[in-house]
Amino acid sequence: MSRGTTKRAKKKSVAANPQRANPLWGGRFASGPDALMEQVNASIGFDKALAAQDLAQSRAHCSMLVETGILSRKDGHAILKGLDAVEREIVAGTFVYMPALEDIHMHVEARLAELIGEAAGRLHTARSRNDQVATDFRLWVRDAIDRIEAALGRLQGALVARADEHADTILPGLTHLQPAQPVTFGHHLLAYFEMFDRDRGRMRDCRARLNESPLGAAALAGTTYPIDRRKTAKALGFARPMENSMDAVSARDFALEFLAACSITAVNLSRLGEELVLWASARFRYVRLSDAFSTGSSIMPQKRNPDAAELVRAKAGPIIGSLTSLLITMKGLPLTYSKDMQEDKVPTFAAAEQLELCVQVMTGMIADLVVDKAAMRAACSEGFLTATDLADWLVQQLDMPFREAHGVVGRIVRLAEQKNVGLEDLSLADLKLIESRITSDAQRALSVDAAIARRSSYGGTAPKLVRAAIKRARQRLKAQR
Ligand code: ARG
Repeated sequence: MSRGTTKRAKKKSVAANPQRANPLWGGRFASGPDALMEQVNASIGFDKALAAQDLAQSRAHCSMLVETGILSRKDGHAILKGLDAVEREIVAGTFVYMPALEDIHMHVEARLAELIGEAAGRLHTARSRNDQVATDFRLWVRDAIDRIEAALGRLQGALVARADEHADTILPGLTHLQPAQPVTFGHHLLAYFEMFDRDRGRMRDCRARLNESPLGAAALAGTTYPIDRRKTAKALGFARPMENSMDAVSARDFALEFLAACSITAVNLSRLGEELVLWASARFRYVRLSDAFSTGSSIMPQKRNPDAAELVRAKAGPIIGSLTSLLITMKGLPLTYSKDMQEDKVPTFAAAEQLELCVQVMTGMIADLVVDKAAMRAACSEGFLTATDLADWLVQQLDMPFREAHGVVGRIVRLAEQKNVGLEDLSLADLKLIESRITSDAQRALSVDAAIARRSSYGGTAPKLVRAAIKRARQRLKAQR
């Protein structure tokens, strides 16, 4: 590339010459913008992330203009070659960005004009920045969905692999963070598999709905040229052109839907992040996070902190903030395009980037997790986890109504508490003191392993069901690839 930064800045920058109006829309203007106007107006600082999408869209538009006879083959050829050159500069990092040119669309067009001259001015025939930005942004969100969806698939893969290792590793299942009933760690991990499966489904639903092309809606009302919107839609991988030109340039609900899906995913991730923080704590000691996903303290030499899990937990905040931000930006905007909508990109880019990072970090933590089966098992001796099983025994063997059985076992739990022992440590005589018909068979029901094995209703935690669920989960993962 022959052109130097300063040379171009001198030649084109509006700021350098306040008398000069914008080269792309300056016809109506006597002077250039105030420096503050330029600052508030410019989006190039963030929408340069749309460069690849903008080039793809311009190529599709140019080819369609040639095919429909709106643009000559010669000009079309020059434009396509010029766009290739622009792309090379952007990829090489030599492309010059400047706030005076507002956004990525004007940058590409201005540079194209420098490179190929007059023909560049014909690319914008039958197009507006309004349909242009809507198209670029949809393409960008579509790519982000594909990346996040694939990353979620890898996280699910890690969860199934660890669930498989721990199909019969027993730990206390909790409600209200209080000991409830024993479950297997594999079952617990598969709960997250299901959550992330729905998150992926939401991403896919969002993708299917957004995959229509706004291109050709022009400013808002369509265009007087005989364009072919089906052609450009197809070239860009859209299922079809959007039906209504006004909707096409003003809709941002696709981004809102994406951010809503991101927010829900982030919330699900944050719950797992919180569980990792708890499990890794000295009170639980269920797991050890790998060195790769832990940090130390600058003052306390013994520390081993679960920073990554905490950050995954925290980042749900800013991601939800992005959704809130764009919802508020869009609220009450009249049709069609308003410049407010330029503010759609920053929160969307940020949320997508942070969510993808969170999913990757979580995948690493899950894959590396060192599980302390003994600590999980030891925790089962607290909290009378098999009390429900004893009540079920009374119902099933003595035909006692469940409510009555609940009361009997409540009294037995109180006795165990007084003696400071577990239910399984009470003697048959102790049990008979409260319900004379109890036999030694009931005592067998009090073992944690028996309690687990008997939870065999569909979707339950019995190891043989967990193994079957793992098999199905693997098949589902394969089918989604
Ligand atoms: N940079 C603008 C945006 O992101 C492009 C669309 C500008 N359209 C307009 N009518 N000023 O929204």
